[in-house]
Amino acid sequence: MTDVVPARRLCWRAPQPAIHTLDKNGKEIKTVGFDRFGFNSEVSLDVLRSLYLRAHYVLTASSSSEAAPKDEEGEEEAWHAKFSHGHTAYQSKSIYHPDIQSISYTTLSRFPPVKLLPPARRKRVLVTGGAGFVGSHLVDRLMLLGHEVTVVDNFFTGSKTTVSHWVGHPNFELVRHDVVEPFMIECDQIYHLACPASPPHYQFNAVKTIKTSFMGTLNMLGLAKRTKARFLISSTSEIYGDPEVHPQQEDYWGHVNPIGPRACYDEGKRVAETLTYGFHRQDGVDVRVARIFNTYGPRMNPFDGRVVSNFIVQALKGEDMTVYGDGKQTRSFQYIHDLIDGLIALMNSDETRPVNLGNGDEFTIQEFAELVREIVEKVQREDGVEARHVNIVYKPMPTDDPQKRRPDTTRAKESLGWQPRWTIRMGLEEMVRYYKAKMAEGSL
Ligand SMILES: NC(=O)c1ccc[n+]([C@@H]2O[C@H](COP(=O)([O-])OP(=O)(O)OC[C@H]3O[C@@H](n4cnc5c(N)ncnc54)[C@H](O)[C@@H]3O)[C@@H](O)[C@H]2O)c1
Repeated sequence: MTDVVPARRLCWRAPQPAIHTLDKNGKEIKTVGFDRFGFNSEVSLDVLRSLYLRAHYVLTASSSSEAAPKDEEGEEEAWHAKFSHGHTAYQSKSIYHPDIQSISYTTLSRFPPVKLLPPARRKRVLVTGGAGFVGSHLVDRLMLLGHEVTVVDNFFTGSKTTVSHWVGHPNFELVRHDVVEPFMIECDQIYHLACPASPPHYQFNAVKTIKTSFMGTLNMLGLAKRTKARFLISSTSEIYGDPEVHPQQEDYWGHVNPIGPRACYDEGKRVAETLTYGFHRQDGVDVRVARIFNTYGPRMNPFDGRVVSNFIVQALKGEDMTVYGDGKQTRSFQYIHDLIDGLIALMNSDETRPVNLGNGDEFTIQEFAELVREIVEKVQREDGVEARHVNIVYKPMPTDDPQKRRPDTTRAKESLGWQPRWTIRMGLEEMVRYYKAKMAEGSL
């Protein structure tokens, strides 16, 4: 039996106090991004939070004995404002009516204010996979910074809801398109992120994953060549496979099983990098290669089997937390805002070599499970919810799961002046609050 508080009771608590997020040196983080390489990527953390740290829809009163307050404007506003501190004017309202099991949407009358850039500084940016977890955070940042953003996505793992708050904005376009097919648009920068990233999704159709990695990258590089756009690909630490060196530097060639169940993704990304440097050497395409290590944050699909979301959702629901293997394998986890800072810095820098973006703080999976459990209990205590102390249980390790992975980020530090700022504790706390909001709206 679980001790999770029923959704409606959670919904109608008073708005919470502001969340204070401290960096590694104990300084409060109020903005993300920085002004570097002639590109200022700084935006307020509160404004960003107003876009993701909230439930997607409001529940109306039903006939249940746990009746929610009446659907009065003030209370609805309070619920929407719960995590977002005064930005409700920029949020669309979606209201779920349990009695008739339907949902009503309002469109936005106003969008969050975006910077007004002079045309010479306004970039036309294409983000493939922009409706996914990483892509949607990148889109939020680029939009707030005042650029023109086009998202191309086939919605295989992404969702329109992640970017719906921008639909209709004059700087924004959303195109349903599969990158396996050619696509033509005028643009200055291409962030090529389209590819499923979690094992159950990329293994669901291995052939399609390889096609996306190879043909999708080929098409987007062709576009970069035609338009002379700068091209950045989101590669991955998986190209190092089960590494024999630790931590992994960019000049390590990797140790990948070419025929295992993960190969469609690992080898797909390796050949995508090969293509990228082929176009660079042969056709002079201006390329950037980000090798991304495990990243977590709000909007991560809670059901895609990635360890962070698994642990948090299990702990929040009061279920046992599942560790695969003996829990001694290590991982490092980077918070989404650090990754977005790194991607934007890399895109605008002169660094054409591959660059690792990840957080070097290493945890065993066992330690990590214990930390998640502790933070879930802390957040529940702060919210006045009595939570069960959940157990950690062990299951056999899946095939080819790497034992150790930790980035060497010296290159990112030297070339980009980039270092992760978010501690795992701060990131996890925000994630727990995000998933709580999802549970409160009833979508988790
Ligand atoms: N999240 C991580 O920890 C991580 C780590 C390493 C690398 N990456 C890379 O970052 C990128 C984004 O990852 P994510 O975590 O946001 O994953 P995600 O699954 O949330 O997002 C991927 C997006 O690409 C879209 N997509 C997939 N195939 C497509 C196709 N053929 N055409 C058009 N769109 C397509 C999906 O619908 C989704 O919106 C991926 O390239 C991934 O390999 C992510």
